[in-house]
Amino acid sequence: MSIDTATGAEAPSEISSARVKLIFSHIAPKYERFNAISSFGTYKAWLHKMAKMAAINSDARVLDVAGGTGDVTFEIARTKKPAHIMCTDLVPEMLEVARKHFADGRADGVPVDFMVADAQALPFEDEQFDAVTVAYGIRNMPDRPLALREMLRVLKPGGSLTCLEFSTPKNAIWRSLYGFYLRHLIPFWGGLIAGEREGFVYLGDSIRAFPDQQSLAKMMEDAGFKDVAWVNCTGGIAAVHTAYKPL
Ligand SMILES: C[S@@+](CC[C@H](N)C(=O)[O-])C[C@H]1O[C@@H](n2cnc3c(N)ncnc32)[C@H](O)[C@@H]1O
Repeated sequence: MSIDTATGAEAPSEISSARVKLIFSHIAPKYERFNAISSFGTYKAWLHKMAKMAAINSDARVLDVAGGTGDVTFEIARTKKPAHIMCTDLVPEMLEVARKHFADGRADGVPVDFMVADAQALPFEDEQFDAVTVAYGIRNMPDRPLALREMLRVLKPGGSLTCLEFSTPKNAIWRSLYGFYLRHLIPFWGGLIAGEREGFVYLGDSIRAFPDQQSLAKMMEDAGFKDVAWVNCTGGIAAVHTAYKPL
């Protein structure tokens, strides 16, 4: 079943796909500046945490799904030194920025290839990768169960999935402060930094409509992953989920 990623209600997938293409093709050049400023630096800390938790060794062939401008790819490259990373995204403009960073040496010598790909129909044979990473991507996908099944399909048995995504703070006060931030401050920052208020109204809506930690874990298990676990970031504003393909 596909949903409208802004509301969580059942809807044809084209609605969300077209919106995501429009938003990310426009904000691609300003995406990193927005992240750095609007998250008060926590963005980098969460990225380090994700990379640290990812079960990736130096022989690994890694698939970065919804890789955008390459932040996860380059963090994994620098910290884990895997054999190869395939950085994929639905939006060519985001990957263009990633390619430029690669040309500037951000992967620290690790070989990286870039490919436009929809996570819900990955253009790879079964069991090609040792690890899959996805950060802030799955929330934007209208058929998340299908995307997770695709990630499972392309993983080798025993391979790992590491997913960083916005989530639900447990503490009620923290949750309502965060709700205020999403509704009012995120569109404000978006307008100021990226000149694009609407895209950032969507960002807040999609985060509020996204399943909590437990529900995302259940979705991963339903897709066929095992040993699903998560660690909260900053009181649950975000969470890193880890999961494995059964042997
Ligand atoms: C918020 S950005 C995250 C980028 C990057 N992972 C990071 O951490 O900075 C979300 C990315 O998901 C991509 N995306 C959305 N839907 C997708 C899909 N169905 N398949 C692949 N990528 C998708 C968007 O194009 C965008 O680049």
